[in-house]
Amino acid sequence: MNSRLYLFGLLLLATWGGANAAEGERLARAVNIPYPAVIAHRGASFDAPESTAPAYLLARDLGADYLELDLQRSSDGVLVVVHDDVLARTSDVAERFPERASSPVSAFTLAELKSLDAGSWFNRAYPERARAAFSGLQILTLDEVIDVAEGNPERQPGLYIETKLAGQFPGIEQDLAARLQARGWLDQTGRVVLQTFDRNSLGLLHTVMPQVPKVLLLWVGKGSIEPASGQSFAESGEQDKAAFYARQQPRDRAEYERWIDLAKNAGAVGIGPSATRSSLGEQSYADLIQPWMNQLSHQRGLLVHVYTLDQPVDFGKAMQAGVDGIFTNRSGALLRFYQRPAAQTEQQLLQGLGY
Ligand code: G3P
Ligand code: CA
Repeated sequence: MNSRLYLFGLLLLATWGGANAAEGERLARAVNIPYPAVIAHRGASFDAPESTAPAYLLARDLGADYLELDLQRSSDGVLVVVHDDVLARTSDVAERFPERASSPVSAFTLAELKSLDAGSWFNRAYPERARAAFSGLQILTLDEVIDVAEGNPERQPGLYIETKLAGQFPGIEQDLAARLQARGWLDQTGRVVLQTFDRNSLGLLHTVMPQVPKVLLLWVGKGSIEPASGQSFAESGEQDKAAFYARQQPRDRAEYERWIDLAKNAGAVGIGPSATRSSLGEQSYADLIQPWMNQLSHQRGLLVHVYTLDQPVDFGKAMQAGVDGIFTNRSGALLRFYQRPAAQTEQQLLQGLGY
């Protein structure tokens, strides 16, 4: 960590979280992870189509610590970066391959995935942020995101890689280890962080990459922490997903502790809990960053990187509660909040990058 970041850490200690923050910074430094960490969720995905070249280029040039990505695999065995299990939301698959619009990513060859337009949906969904150059953007391979991360000598983010839907991709942990090894990305601790909701995948990642820091993602619901309500969103019959999750909490303290212990025993250095956004909406889930939870994680030697916050009010609440880093769609805003602003605005950077 450079001296500027260290001094800023001291400032945070004075203003946010007290001893809890000091413990978080100590844990982060032990594994060479920046504190507090700026994790660009699917790239700078507020300003550009998620998981595409401009999203990752912008996040890199803003100065994010990590480019976050969701890893899947094409039918011909290439590691690709896509969040959803199907392609309908973020591409023109319904027009290009109508009979396979609901097929999983794993049903498409790399050439088919590369033939999709992964940018125009963004222009339609967010006309106020639309850019003509976003039309026709391609889905990226892992290697292409590595190329972005290596592409600016003055800005060298790490990669924060999630094995998404890992059960659909037997052997993806070994495939990932092989690509990272081939690209020389396993030499420096903390350059890569591995993340997953899937405990089995976490164990496999630890087997093939024991030296790489790993984070167990947590939420309240199926496959993760049991809810006090005993209900899933589907069972609740409610319409508003974010409002439903905002009311969810772990069944009890023991259930939360059980998951902390699972993470620790599986070799994780941290957890990635969900959070409730002040304005709810998409990507707002159960509040798993209550101060007692973060203290418990730190006591067990686990870092806390919360997903996914975009507003300064939520950045402040999370830091006060004692988290050690934030997944954000708005890296520029989080860097400004941490007083690490880029010299140029997001708009200037995108224009300079040719978008
Ligand atoms: O990986 C952290 C966060 O991204 C988990 O949620 O659904 O956006 O991958 P999701
Ligand atoms: Ca993710």
